[in-house]
Amino acid sequence: MEKARIGVTGLAVMGRNLARNLARHGHPVAVHNRTSARTKALVEQFGDEGTFLPADTPEEFVASLERPRRLVVMVKAGAPTDAVIEEFAPLLEPGDMIVDGGNAHFADTRRREAALRERGLHFVGAGISGGEEGALHGPSIMPGGSAESYEALGPLLEDISAKVDGDPCCAHVGPDGAGHFVKMVHNGIEYSDMQLIAESYDLLRHAAGLAPAEIAEVFRTWNTGRLESYLIEITAEVLAHTDAATGKPFVDVVLDQAEQKGTGRWTVQTALDLGVPVGGIAEAVFARSVSGHADLREASRHLPGPSRAKVAGSSFADAVEKALYASKIVAYAQGFHEIQAGSAEYGWNIDAGSMAAIWRGGCIIRAGFLDRIRAAYAADPHTPTLLTDAHFAEAVGDAQDAWREVVATAARIGVPAPGLSTALAYYDSLRADRLPAALTQGQRDYFGAHTYRRTDREGTYHTLWGGDRTEVDA
Ligand code: 6PG
Repeated sequence: MEKARIGVTGLAVMGRNLARNLARHGHPVAVHNRTSARTKALVEQFGDEGTFLPADTPEEFVASLERPRRLVVMVKAGAPTDAVIEEFAPLLEPGDMIVDGGNAHFADTRRREAALRERGLHFVGAGISGGEEGALHGPSIMPGGSAESYEALGPLLEDISAKVDGDPCCAHVGPDGAGHFVKMVHNGIEYSDMQLIAESYDLLRHAAGLAPAEIAEVFRTWNTGRLESYLIEITAEVLAHTDAATGKPFVDVVLDQAEQKGTGRWTVQTALDLGVPVGGIAEAVFARSVSGHADLREASRHLPGPSRAKVAGSSFADAVEKALYASKIVAYAQGFHEIQAGSAEYGWNIDAGSMAAIWRGGCIIRAGFLDRIRAAYAADPHTPTLLTDAHFAEAVGDAQDAWREVVATAARIGVPAPGLSTALAYYDSLRADRLPAALTQGQRDYFGAHTYRRTDREGTYHTLWGGDRTEVDA
């Protein structure tokens, strides 16, 4: 019986499209789903796209795979993934591998990888970005797991991934949970990028008085320049869309309460644990949260605010483009900082430039901008921040007057711009010779004797605030 090179279990749209992508690339693929009707439907609808080996049971599925078995699990993160692992692991032999292609939390992946390693099996947490279309036509794929597993799995994933300049948008990220960690940060950056775009739209709407269709044209123009990206492209499409039922701009009939499945939140929680400031991602998560508090917003709707004076159109739009680009540089610098901090914490040795390279295509944040980031890390792989890269430093320096004007305008006319504002505050914090953290240290020492260090000599000190205020060695 012909054996499959790889198998996919879990044939919802993402899993189905991944299986189709593999089959289209000439790889015989075993397919299985808890309810076999889905398996049957896949073969009936798309059987002519390549070689599918349908299996009704886990045993049949495993038996149809060549060694070492490569078994891709495409089910919901969390308990469903654990359940499928437990269902298949006993059927596998040493050297076989289970690949989790869902949006699992990297800590779960580390746990699963260690447990299955004990059983002689490989476990690969692979971030797959690009949605349903990406899974079918070429996603960006971020596999973790052992180098040995990547030898058997990598060529297949690189074959079906998106390609940019002939290069696959897939590379081995690092051991155990590294792949899902990088996918998590990808999603955090995605949130931040989306929030900055939303604020730019809001300002063009309410500060410049442009209509959605006009703003769509502005984004279309921006998409021909340095802001070129999938997110800018689809923003223009969404803003240009008219709601068929009402004839109104689509964006005006959508309930303004953003939801989130959780990967952005994980990125912030993890950054807090690692001590990495990712204000852009945090403000994006909280902006979605604020939008969802309908009761709080209804109660606050009539709080006093400034008059929403209109500002000049085209010059303001140019200023917003600069503010958006500068804030985007900050947001990506923060995201890559978290990747470097995670890599150091867990000993993953992640190549940041390689991550930028595989994000150039296939994923939700795909953009020419990522080629700039790849070049920055090629020039200095250990740069502490992308902001000091010559290209980015010049771009932000050129943008900063407009950026400050846009943030000031937002504050003056009462349009919330937490993403644009926090990015500017982060930039100014990094530039500052002295930060007010010195006062914070004094306050902490006053009320809690938490001690402080001095600028002029080594050591740790405490002042006797309750006594004669002399300073003592702590
Ligand atoms: C991707 C997407 C994917 C998911 C979004 C939506 O990389 O293909 O990011 O993972 O569709 O993250 O998630 P939210 O509901 O959290 O916005």
